Amino acid sequence: MTPPVAPTTAADITQAVLRSFDQTPDPRTKQLLQAAVKHLHAFATEVNLTTNELIRLAEILTAAGKISDASRHEFLLMSDVMGLTMVVDYNTNLKPAGAFESSVLGPFYRADAPWIEMGGDICRQKDAGTPTFVSGRVLSTDGSPIPGAVLDIWQAADNGMYENTDASQAEFNCRGRLRAADDGSYQFWTTKPVPYPIPKDGPAGLILDGAQRHNMRAAHIHVIVEAPGYEKVISELFVAGDPYIDSDAVFGVKNSLVVQFVRHDSSEDATRYGRPGLFYTVTYDFVLVPGATRNEVKFSAGRA
Ligand SMILES: [Fe+2]
Repeated sequence: MTPPVAPTTAADITQAVLRSFDQTPDPRTKQLLQAAVKHLHAFATEVNLTTNELIRLAEILTAAGKISDASRHEFLLMSDVMGLTMVVDYNTNLKPAGAFESSVLGPFYRADAPWIEMGGDICRQKDAGTPTFVSGRVLSTDGSPIPGAVLDIWQAADNGMYENTDASQAEFNCRGRLRAADDGSYQFWTTKPVPYPIPKDGPAGLILDGAQRHNMRAAHIHVIVEAPGYEKVISELFVAGDPYIDSDAVFGVKNSLVVQFVRHDSSEDATRYGRPGLFYTVTYDFVLVPGATRNEVKFSAGRA
């Protein structure tokens, strides 16, 4: 019997489509396209995806595109809530024990934040939130200091919003960069981060609502630490005791990134730190791994 020319089963289709990418010149592109085909087809078969569901998926992706702009990146948000971002992080950013671990960049990073002096405040508005003093050292895995290491820090203000999505905030409010001193030490003021909701008015919200999941991120300070000759680390510091620490909407929490925010409200501490009233302190050492940065991330949001 002559074998059929045309595919007769879903598995035949998969094989035909895989072969159609055999001549893809760039090997990495070929690998990505063929793996995407393999897993997308397997997904459709596993759940017996219907045509109407496929059309609905296309509508959802179209909606994600339409709601996205310079300050809103819905596809990244969908990746975050589906845990894809953190799977990529775990696969590509494995660090030795004791080294500063990575976490999601998130969709609100803006490059070129203003430089602050040592001990300066990254928040440019007095009502940004409860003052918090963060200090520590940037060290190599052998314990030696890394002078001049750059910290790029950003976070939401007390209203749970990043300045680039909130016209009421000053430009670059709660964003700043500073360099570690010769002994690797660093100090800066910010505010105690608060848990904040990720936007639910787009497809990421559809996913969360469909699963009856909340849309809260555990409170965090974003930080990128880099120095020549060391692997750059994109990460976040989380607040111990935060109500969402075990259910962060984007799965970004790692144990080594959960830090104590120590409360201060005595007159002695006010004198010592030069800050009257309630404030918090955080101590954290960033331990970097010698070597070249792998998988350099190129992303910067705009201001709406
Ligand atoms: Fe964030």
